[in-house]
Amino acid sequence: MPKDPGRILIFDTTLRDGEQSPGASLNLEEKLAIAHQLARLGVDVIEAGFPFASPGDFKAVNKIAEVVTGENGPTICGLARAARNDIKACFEALSPAPKKRIHTFIATSDIHLEHKLKKSRKDVLSIVPEMVNYAKSLVDDVEFSCEDASRSDPEFLYEVIQAAISAGANTINIPDTVGFSTPSEFGRLISDINNNVPNIDEAIISVHGHNDLGLAVANFLEAVRNGARQLECTVNGIGERAGNASLEELVMALHVRKRFYNKFLNRREDCPTPLTAIRTEEITKTSRLVSNLTGMNVQPNKAIVGANAFAHESGIHQDGVLKNRLTYEIIDAKTVGLNNNKISLGKLSGRSAVRARLEEMGYDLSREDLNDAFARFKDLADRKREITDRDLEAIVSEQVQLPESKFQLKLVQVSCGNESKPTATITLFDTEELVENTVVALGTGPVDAVCKALNKLAKVPNELIEFSVKSVTEGIDALGEVTIRIRNNGRIYSGHSADTDVVVAAANAYVNALNRLIFSEKKNSIHPQYDDPSKSENTVLTNSGE
Ligand code: KIV
Ligand code: ZN
Repeated sequence: MPKDPGRILIFDTTLRDGEQSPGASLNLEEKLAIAHQLARLGVDVIEAGFPFASPGDFKAVNKIAEVVTGENGPTICGLARAARNDIKACFEALSPAPKKRIHTFIATSDIHLEHKLKKSRKDVLSIVPEMVNYAKSLVDDVEFSCEDASRSDPEFLYEVIQAAISAGANTINIPDTVGFSTPSEFGRLISDINNNVPNIDEAIISVHGHNDLGLAVANFLEAVRNGARQLECTVNGIGERAGNASLEELVMALHVRKRFYNKFLNRREDCPTPLTAIRTEEITKTSRLVSNLTGMNVQPNKAIVGANAFAHESGIHQDGVLKNRLTYEIIDAKTVGLNNNKISLGKLSGRSAVRARLEEMGYDLSREDLNDAFARFKDLADRKREITDRDLEAIVSEQVQLPESKFQLKLVQVSCGNESKPTATITLFDTEELVENTVVALGTGPVDAVCKALNKLAKVPNELIEFSVKSVTEGIDALGEVTIRIRNNGRIYSGHSADTDVVVAAANAYVNALNRLIFSEKKNSIHPQYDDPSKSENTVLTNSGE
């Protein structure tokens, strides 16, 4: 049997595989904010990025390794292809972390070997031990993944896994890279690995999977029944194509159905010890933070974190829930941190009250950031009677989007109505040229006029592909949250903003998206799964990532 940590380890890859979602690229501050929140959520491992991809990715992993620490803090992990320079960069980026892991991988399916890597099985069998061994010479904790494992020849897979474990891999990850597997097949694959890899008892079995057929979570739960003890997942299930297995769905399935899953971990059915170390009350907040910062909206009917996940529409259901919650509810909303939306502050609240509430909510802001947050709070309190925790969250998440900005919005003014042509006047401050420029533009509606004016000023070709508005809280004075996604050269960039005036929020969101487009590291970065390591073998990253 494989190594058993006694519970299910949660390996979060929101900042690596999640960030591979189109349009989800994050700046350093945003990655840090998410990493801190993941640590509060209680994940065991944070996969912070792919350091070899670009100097920006290196720096982000390095910073997370430096600051997301703490006695019971998570292990910080970096991804590296099975190539010496990837692994070296990964080690350098991770070096400040007290608990660090190198995650190295190579494809094992014939389809990937023939068409992508142009390597033979024999080549792979010699690369794997050499690279795992190299990673092991740098850190104690090494994870090895067989990319496209679910479409690989099982006999070859056993050989590769055995070689990786012999070379020192502590965790063996089995990815369903293209989301092809079904639950019974995936469970069987894990059980076959258990039964056919002679040294499997020296490693923990992990699973990683994509949601192309909507089966990722079901596949993982079957894997748990068959001995997997680490689940690689992302918040809100974001990730390549249809996304990854969703963290909140896995954690809550294991929480709600603990009695059922206990026996697969050799526990008594009524064993009260949680199956994961996740603080479930942090789930909603984490989901909102990731959605706001990545610009990836959560569908309303999404399990656990969708806006309707705890709403009862039909009269019969409402009546039942009023008589006894258990008639139609399997989870108390408070368990996932919903309904904790305290009305905490108002116009007369001072700086220390704002700081204290933010600290209670888990935000430990620097003096400068607190000053900024307080100024935004005051501005909002002038327009909105009661400031709730969700309003504060919106203020803080907006702030982390701002640091790298070529353009700052100085003025937005619109006129519109049934008898007039929508007109927008916009002033942008250009932080590189140090000038303010103003233009006027007409549009089909006020938001269209604002976007046209911004495009005239920014002069960056782009196409608006998504514009969505939702209200943060209830009431006529609620903040309106706007998410905008724009496309340039096939890449998608998102921007997010909240304001009591949705036109102002739209303008800010568009400026955020334009700034991201201008500063995007992703334009020139390497993709871990599509790019060939031999083509980047000579690129050397130094400690500073230059
Ligand atoms: O989907 C996949 O196979 C991956 C690996 C790099 C683990 O993301
Ligand atoms: Zn993946």
